[in-house]
Amino acid sequence: MRVACRDCGGLLDVDYEWDQLQIPESLDFFETKWARRNDPHCLSGVWRFHDLLPFAPRSKIVTIGEGQTLLHSSDGVGQFIGLNAGQCHLQYEGLNPSGSFKDNGMTAAFTHAHSIGAKRAACASTGNTSASLAVYCGVSKLMRAVIFIGTGKISYGKLSQALDYGALTVQIAGDFDDAMQRVREVTERLGIYLVNSVNPFRLEGQKTIMFRVLEGLRWEVPDWIVVPGGNLGNSSAFGKAFTELKQLGLIDRVPRIAVINASGANTLYELFERRSLRWNKGAVDHSIVDAYYKELDDQRQRASTIASAIEINRPVNLTKCLRALEVCDGVVREVSDQEILDAKAQVGANGLGCEPASAASVAGAKRLRAEGVIGPNDCVICILTGHQLKDPTATIAYHSTDQEEFNRVLGSRGVHRAEFANRAIAVGNDLDEIIRAIHLYS
Ligand code: F0G
Repeated sequence: MRVACRDCGGLLDVDYEWDQLQIPESLDFFETKWARRNDPHCLSGVWRFHDLLPFAPRSKIVTIGEGQTLLHSSDGVGQFIGLNAGQCHLQYEGLNPSGSFKDNGMTAAFTHAHSIGAKRAACASTGNTSASLAVYCGVSKLMRAVIFIGTGKISYGKLSQALDYGALTVQIAGDFDDAMQRVREVTERLGIYLVNSVNPFRLEGQKTIMFRVLEGLRWEVPDWIVVPGGNLGNSSAFGKAFTELKQLGLIDRVPRIAVINASGANTLYELFERRSLRWNKGAVDHSIVDAYYKELDDQRQRASTIASAIEINRPVNLTKCLRALEVCDGVVREVSDQEILDAKAQVGANGLGCEPASAASVAGAKRLRAEGVIGPNDCVICILTGHQLKDPTATIAYHSTDQEEFNRVLGSRGVHRAEFANRAIAVGNDLDEIIRAIHLYS
């Protein structure tokens, strides 16, 4: 499948002839679908919005019940960020079947792959895209999954999913950026369907995360969407969702968007905030990007962060994300691994839990609040992209009493404190000692 323009190399976009389609008059139309949830297409949090991603016939849809995710109000996390009560909401995408937001896009790309008769599908991944592809292949048996991962670069939770679901797993001596380049070459050479977010149908599915956010707010538009940035598929999809809703007259304004990089993988931050790279009505100055990538190569600089899901230096959706930033009057920030892990501990302590990359959104919101860019009464949505159990290594190290373990996993990444650690208490196998410890600590 072709994903890029033959002439300019830019990624393709899905564009609808809306005036030829029947579009609901208001968003509350979608509420009626829930009453019909015995139909899998209505149960799916992606396909109940089929009218807003009408690229495939109903008969070709492959769904495994993705998108049953919730918008939680969290005053505890709001307090950490510096927001007034009732203003902080967490969109918990870890609830998806494979444990991350990727299922929203995968059901869409997989549906397209099925509709054109693909028998093999591939992706490069930092772990979640691959887990998601592996699940869809495993459940449907329609395709064989081929996944490309960097050596030592993906967390055990994610790797275990791909292996368990039976994906052909190709471990490349390199990182995600290397794997991404190779998978594009291999899929082209072998005619394998590519499901990375270079695939425009992935983004169509990911638009629905925003539809569910609006649904959770009774169709009110929030002030801010805060999202971690890796390959920049999500942020691009969110911008497209709001552009289309506005164009269709289904919302009257768009929210602002904040994309948060890890500082060890901060290409978007560097290009947008420091080098003023802009969408510029589609005339993006690619020489700025090329010059930056050349600097990275000359200095042999590779992406490096505890948030392995977003350990990416060459985001494939950079251009589309610039468009989203323009449409949504966006900002970009970078946060350190220390900030990410502290924010993650706060998300956990308030009951939901997420993997490190997801917590970048909360850490970024805190930073923007401290700068005064986000106001204390703004309605802020942080996207929790992946489940806490995806990466237990970082969590255990943060809460560990074992200084050596802490230093080994986190110290090397500039994490020196664990302000919100919840440490296990070690006691002998002795009833009195156990009771004394419980009295002492509770
Ligand atoms: N959060 C998590 C948990 C992710 O897995 C990813 C991306 C992102 C955020 C970044 O999202 O790429 O849309 O900007 N993971 C990809 C993968 C790269 O291979 O699983 P993005």
